[in-house]
Amino acid sequence: MCGIVAYIGEKQAFPILLEGLKRLEYRGYDSAGISILNGTLKTVKKKGKVSDLEAVSATIDTTGTLGIGHTRWATHGKPDDINAHPHNSGDGTISLVHNGIIENYATIKKALEDRGHVFKSQTDTEVLVHLIEEFKNQDNLDLEQAVTKALSRVVGAYAIVVVDKENPNQIVAARKSSPLVLGIGDKEFYVASDASPIIKYTKKVVYLNDEEIAIANRDGSFVVKNIHNEIQEPVIQELDLKIEQLEKGGYDHFMLKEIMEQPTTIAESMRGRINAEEGWVSLGGLEEHQQRILNAHRIIFVACGTSWHSALIAEYLIEDLARIPVEVEYASEFRYRNPILTEKDVVIAISQSGETADTLAALEIAKEKGALTYGIVNVVGSSIARVTDSGSYIHAGPEIGVASTKAFTSQLVVLILMALKLGEKKGTIPSGMLRELIYGLESVPKKVAEILEQKEKIKLIAQEIQNKPNALYLGRGLNFPVALEGALKLKEISYIHAEGYPAAEMKHGPIALIDEDMPVFIVATNVSAHEKIVSNIQEVKARKGVVIAIVNEGDNIISGLADFTFEIPYIEEPLTPLLSVIPLQLISYYISVMRGCNVDQPRNLAKSVTVE
Ligand code: F6R
Repeated sequence: MCGIVAYIGEKQAFPILLEGLKRLEYRGYDSAGISILNGTLKTVKKKGKVSDLEAVSATIDTTGTLGIGHTRWATHGKPDDINAHPHNSGDGTISLVHNGIIENYATIKKALEDRGHVFKSQTDTEVLVHLIEEFKNQDNLDLEQAVTKALSRVVGAYAIVVVDKENPNQIVAARKSSPLVLGIGDKEFYVASDASPIIKYTKKVVYLNDEEIAIANRDGSFVVKNIHNEIQEPVIQELDLKIEQLEKGGYDHFMLKEIMEQPTTIAESMRGRINAEEGWVSLGGLEEHQQRILNAHRIIFVACGTSWHSALIAEYLIEDLARIPVEVEYASEFRYRNPILTEKDVVIAISQSGETADTLAALEIAKEKGALTYGIVNVVGSSIARVTDSGSYIHAGPEIGVASTKAFTSQLVVLILMALKLGEKKGTIPSGMLRELIYGLESVPKKVAEILEQKEKIKLIAQEIQNKPNALYLGRGLNFPVALEGALKLKEISYIHAEGYPAAEMKHGPIALIDEDMPVFIVATNVSAHEKIVSNIQEVKARKGVVIAIVNEGDNIISGLADFTFEIPYIEEPLTPLLSVIPLQLISYYISVMRGCNVDQPRNLAKSVTVE
């Protein structure tokens, strides 16, 4: 949801900002813009991609050692040149970039208009820069004071960076509910929505907390204070990130790179957490609060999108293996429905980005009600990782393709470990089964690699389906959430309408959709429900549906029925989602490429959803 980057120092700012925006483009790509301060304030902005901005900037003098940049995911006002950020004050002295939503912008705008302010855009952001201008001029405040005062008047979420022509030696940055990182170089500072634009230059960073303001000066000094003007002690952290992790590494798209990385990322997620020989599982964050979690009345998962699908799989696994009641909630629904929660509940948030606004808000409610909160998060140092009482990182490394792939499988690994550990401690998993599942887990990276080696076969299936307008995905038990995930992957990157359904529910409605033009993906790797899934396939075939089945190796019965079959290596049933999702990710990827879609930046989407 919008990417922000800023620089102050001795280097030329423009190339740093442009490169930073390219790294942040996964957060939004409706428009992009840059302001440079160099005696004058120069702002260039353009609808479309960062490459469009680059093209229009080529003819402009962009020299200067202080600047701010933005890549937008539109909320208020359509994507066009005028609504693009940065937004400037009426007198043209102050320039501001913003990620988030100013909820009370309409009231402030009306008051400012009554006092003579004229607005150019339809954005909420422009209101904020005019408000800062008003306080600066009317109350004779410096930039930092004016920003502080303006922020005390706004309701909503913001990460902002502001520069002032009259103070060319300073940038002011602030955050509330939207992420912002300050990078500390040698007499220079970087500010960004995440560390990706910073890592090339410095590893020293400060993650701003909510309602904190950072003032970074050209002389190398900086101060962090809160919105009440109290000085804060900044925690300087060392980034654990390599620049290669942010590159495509020879692949055409980040999504394909991230799919292909899964043998490694899955192994990383379990590294140091299991030992099959010795038969143990360990999950640090869980063990810290083990008793409270074991005695929980309920575990409630809150998440969105793909992370919500992981939570659904966790529900099957934890209830089955550890016999603790589990509920799975869309964070966006949970937060608005006055949920019944007590201190006996454990609320687990799953989030790749660790910044999803609805998931964060759901956690706030859980904290208020005294529940233990736990985060299963990929991005180290993200908001969810910081606000939860405990948690486990999934260690999948940066995920840049908008469609989540490797984060999903790494989330599953952590959730499986959680189910195993809780089951072990509760005595609900026989030790033989525990050891078998740990061995099974250790074999996953190799088996995923075997599936990935067959990508040409998956491409052939994709070719057959690429022009269909609709698709149905069916699965039973643990494979029902995999079916949902397959459908989400297809629809979000290829714009084919796709629905996931529990296979047995098909006869309660969706079966009416089936004809010779309807591809039906059936995730059929459940040994325990094999006969039932065979019946579901018969039902589809009887209505001339085209069946694409994901089956266990050697399943001649389903292979004999389906139009297309993809076999996955044998694995213990609780672990099958880790394998059965891989061909679905690849099929969606290839269909998207074949349809000429923008795989890594699908329309209307952004990677990190920091607005409600
Ligand atoms: C789908 C996808 C989204 C995210 C959702 C939650 O491929 O990426 O559905 O899963 O926006 O994001 P996180 O996990 O960052 O909270």
